[in-house]
Amino acid sequence: MILQGDAGRSGNSGNFGAGLFRRYNPRFAPDPLLVPSANLVEVDNVTFGYDPKRLILRGISLSIPRGRIVAIMGGSGCGKTTTLRLIGGELRPSKGEVRVDGQSVRGLSTAELYALRRKMGMLFQFGALFTDMTAYENVAFQFKEQTRLPEVLIRHLVLMKLNAVGLRGAADLMPSELSGGMARRVALARSIALDPMLMLYDEPFTGLDPISLGVTAQLIRTLNDALGTTSIVVTHNVLDALALVDYVYFMSDGKVVAEGTPDQVRDSAEPFVRQFVKAEPDGPVPFHYPGQDYRSDLFAAAAA
Ligand SMILES: Nc1ncnc2c1ncn2[C@@H]1O[C@H](COP(=O)(O)OP(=O)(O)OP(=O)(O)O)[C@@H](O)[C@H]1O
Ligand SMILES: [Mg+2]
Repeated sequence: MILQGDAGRSGNSGNFGAGLFRRYNPRFAPDPLLVPSANLVEVDNVTFGYDPKRLILRGISLSIPRGRIVAIMGGSGCGKTTTLRLIGGELRPSKGEVRVDGQSVRGLSTAELYALRRKMGMLFQFGALFTDMTAYENVAFQFKEQTRLPEVLIRHLVLMKLNAVGLRGAADLMPSELSGGMARRVALARSIALDPMLMLYDEPFTGLDPISLGVTAQLIRTLNDALGTTSIVVTHNVLDALALVDYVYFMSDGKVVAEGTPDQVRDSAEPFVRQFVKAEPDGPVPFHYPGQDYRSDLFAAAAA
């Protein structure tokens, strides 16, 4: 893995005692069991199917280094959203393991899982705002639900989050008064409200015009770097993603079929990657959802 080697620089791994003890002192050496992994998320050989007879993920492994933005790409229905739901602890793998911040998600109690999920922000494609609340109230909702902070502090925090996405001036607008791009940014402010250590984005660019898309992509990068977050972005939007992310995984048929840095992806001769980068409709990723033979479908319809 290309990123793993230098990931420690952005994370806090191996940094115990730095500056305090210039020479190695075994008394103060970090306990290897306590040193956090360079990867915030590790998906280790995970198999999963909603229906045990139809596997969606077949032994998938991903490493998401701390502080980085990693994209997951692949054809429609290949299991990207499912992977995010496994990382978010909403689903449990049938085999293999998902570790977030060193904790195996499978072994967590409901209370522990809830605590872990509070440290994650999710921006989903259809993650709509509450339509009967202003932009301000939508963001404040997070603080009111999840914290016991006094009203005056919540006001400061909400305005700070809206300011971070450039929409402090729109605080009093209702969702119906926002453009699609603005609504997405308010949803982004809401999902970063509690300063998550991990942000999961599912198709954050869908339906946005090129300018809003550029603004959103820039925001994802800025917020990731400013807040010291780690981000996973699921998107079809290859060219925009390549400009944004540090590393890309390509999925097909429930497996990782290619991976690399944006430069490696652009230069790749791998047919699957080429199909994505050149946006060709057919190639290793089939256009058709698997179904029974077309002829038998037609005859079945005629017989009905
Ligand atoms: N709740 C569910 N119950 C049963 N099957 C599901 C469920 N959610 C998704 N699936 C199936 O799992 C497969 C993977 O779905 P998933 O949503 O992970 O795909 P995706 O890669 O995110 O696709 P897209 O790019 O279109 O969003 C699909 O075949 C889908 O029909
Ligand atoms: Mg999806």
